[in-house]
Amino acid sequence: MNPEKEGREKGRGKEAGEGEGEGRGRNESGLPPRISLEEKLSLFEDLWAPRIVAECNGQHIKLAKIRGEFVWHSHAEEDELFLVLKGRLRMEFRDGVVELGPGEMCVVPRGMEHRPVAEEEVHLCLIEPAGTVNTGDAGGPLTLEDPSWV
Ligand code: NI
Repeated sequence: MNPEKEGREKGRGKEAGEGEGEGRGRNESGLPPRISLEEKLSLFEDLWAPRIVAECNGQHIKLAKIRGEFVWHSHAEEDELFLVLKGRLRMEFRDGVVELGPGEMCVVPRGMEHRPVAEEEVHLCLIEPAGTVNTGDAGGPLTLEDPSWV
């Protein structure tokens, strides 16, 4: 286990330190921390590289910035919720397209092939079971096995 990961696991359920992993900890007052999605989004720029901001009942809540076309893929075991925070997302399915603007969301059922496409940069919130791999069954260079916290 790498030191960074070990540190996160040790921190689980305890008082959160600054930065990484605060979404599942408590603040100095013993309260769950307020998490600003806007602030979290300002902390990274890379595209197609989701960051985890919180964990809830085994689901990871992630933020992502995307632009362009992702790969066609599906997730055999996981439903995947996409909530658009900024921009317009085209979620392509084999049988059609669902377009989403800010404040709109879509749950992609497990097993259904999909491809996110963003002509301009889109900011997303994703909710999916911890361990869900972004490229699903497709693999390839955009695969991110172990997303980091922000
Ligand atoms: Ni997916």
